[in-house]
Amino acid sequence: MNIARRRFDCLVVGAGGGGLRAALQLAQGEAHVAVVSKVFPTRSHTVAAQGGMNAALGNVLPDNWHWHMYDTVKGSDYLGDQDAIEYMCRAASRLVIELEHYGVPFTRLDDGHIYQRAFGGQSQNFGGEQAARTCAAADRTGHAILHALYQQNLRAKTHFFDEFFVVDLITDADTSVLGALVLEIETGEPLLIEAKTTLLATGGAGRMFRTSTNAMINTGDGMAMAVRAGIPLQDMEFLQFHPTGIAGVGSLISEGVRGEGGHLINSEGERFMERYAPQAKDLASRDVVSRAIAIEIREGRGCGPNKDYALLKVDHLGAELIKQRLPGIRDMAMRFAHVDPIEKPIPVYPTLHYTMGGIPTDRFGQVVVPVHRGPEEPVQGLYAVGECACVSVHGANRLGGNSLLDIVVFGRAAGNQILQYLSENRYHRGVSQGGVDRALERLARWERRGEGESVEALREELGKTMEDYCGVFRTQDVLDEGIERVLEIEARLQDAVLKDHSKIFNTARIEALELENLVDITLATVVSAAARKESRGAHSRLDYPERDDVNWLKHTLYSKAGRQLDYKPVRLKPLTVDTFQPKERVY
Ligand code: FUM
Repeated sequence: MNIARRRFDCLVVGAGGGGLRAALQLAQGEAHVAVVSKVFPTRSHTVAAQGGMNAALGNVLPDNWHWHMYDTVKGSDYLGDQDAIEYMCRAASRLVIELEHYGVPFTRLDDGHIYQRAFGGQSQNFGGEQAARTCAAADRTGHAILHALYQQNLRAKTHFFDEFFVVDLITDADTSVLGALVLEIETGEPLLIEAKTTLLATGGAGRMFRTSTNAMINTGDGMAMAVRAGIPLQDMEFLQFHPTGIAGVGSLISEGVRGEGGHLINSEGERFMERYAPQAKDLASRDVVSRAIAIEIREGRGCGPNKDYALLKVDHLGAELIKQRLPGIRDMAMRFAHVDPIEKPIPVYPTLHYTMGGIPTDRFGQVVVPVHRGPEEPVQGLYAVGECACVSVHGANRLGGNSLLDIVVFGRAAGNQILQYLSENRYHRGVSQGGVDRALERLARWERRGEGESVEALREELGKTMEDYCGVFRTQDVLDEGIERVLEIEARLQDAVLKDHSKIFNTARIEALELENLVDITLATVVSAAARKESRGAHSRLDYPERDDVNWLKHTLYSKAGRQLDYKPVRLKPLTVDTFQPKERVY
């Protein structure tokens, strides 16, 4: 098949904050960079980030980056790599100011400084009083950052392929990555993009659950491409449930609501977080708050006719503050929960929000894999940042406000690293026909009409399976059963029927390709979860309730071939300061 080809120094897959921050660094550094996105860039999921971005500016309460680092390591339940965490927390303040100069309209204090709100898991002085570290543009911070980065990229002449879907990476025999096969969604025409470097910034895989705070586009495409290319995925068992998704709907109600003084109550009107986290209360880390809500409901203190949610009370904050600092939340609560939070509490339930695991990278965004169970080596030409990557700064549980920070810090770092690589590797490596054929084969499988169930029905079943078998609390039996169910869905997908066969918009074929991606990611998740026999961060095993540092202070690596698991040590040594040694985690 003769297909069109384009060549770039760098192909960035995904136009969220991570992809755009990397692309900007590259374009400003005179690299020829293309961004491919399956949606128009400003519809990428970063747009949905509400509460803010952490940086120890100290504008509201005393703060410094070392306290931020401590909170992040503790929040990660000691699974985060401390060199990367130090790097991120040190860079944060400078990058907030840089974003402000790019045009992000951060909310201001009366004296003109950037406003900062309290978020979960934040402390002063290594575990002391609550800190206020999250810089916000009201409750639409991701929206503001994404638009500013997009505009800066337009100015820097980044080339955009809007509404193109990436089918697969193009690799050569030694698994160097040479670009990707993409599909123009409108025409259905394939296009080969050859690139000296490829950066994956495709976001998370929240749509492996039926109810999720994530956009429908979050189908783990980058992670799935990587695992198909033989790159193991790291720490996939760690899924974050945001405590306050709107019950039954999933839409995000920002942690910023609790940061502004909102609190959770049960059916008895009790502020139950006081029992679970006596010091931090409603601003304990997300895994702790989500478990608390789940326990309240399990023990019969849930709210509503079916006693199946908690209530988030905000009315005591007053109409003026709610309208000024939480306008989007009020809008969302009225639209999806049919309550005005100025008057009534919002029904909430822990909802899938974030994948802590992903494609393993070093702190420069370079994808790394262990070779023959020895030390890690870079995969030539491949980089990853943001939620699809695992650098790992979030370990077993991410702190709210660290995700926007992660994408900006490591997007910029990866851009710089790629510029360095490009200065030493000036020529394209040839793409072999075999590499292209492998990617085309994936597309060709969906040209035919299957005779089985619909892709849509299978996707629905997959989402329900994950909710039933890999939720907030887990046990061996349930996880093992979950693996079997996902394998069954994988088998049935081989013969699934596309919803329609219109060649015009190709949406049916793309939904099938996305479902294949989701199946790869759900398998990585349940298999990794079934293997980890301890409770750490967001991975909560009823049958192994304790954290086990002797046997499990290590990262999981899942390979698709044979669903193999391997492990690698946590990088406990920071860059310049002393290690935060694992200790009991209380809030
Ligand atoms: O609650 C929130 O506003 C979400 C923030 C985050 O996930 O970092």
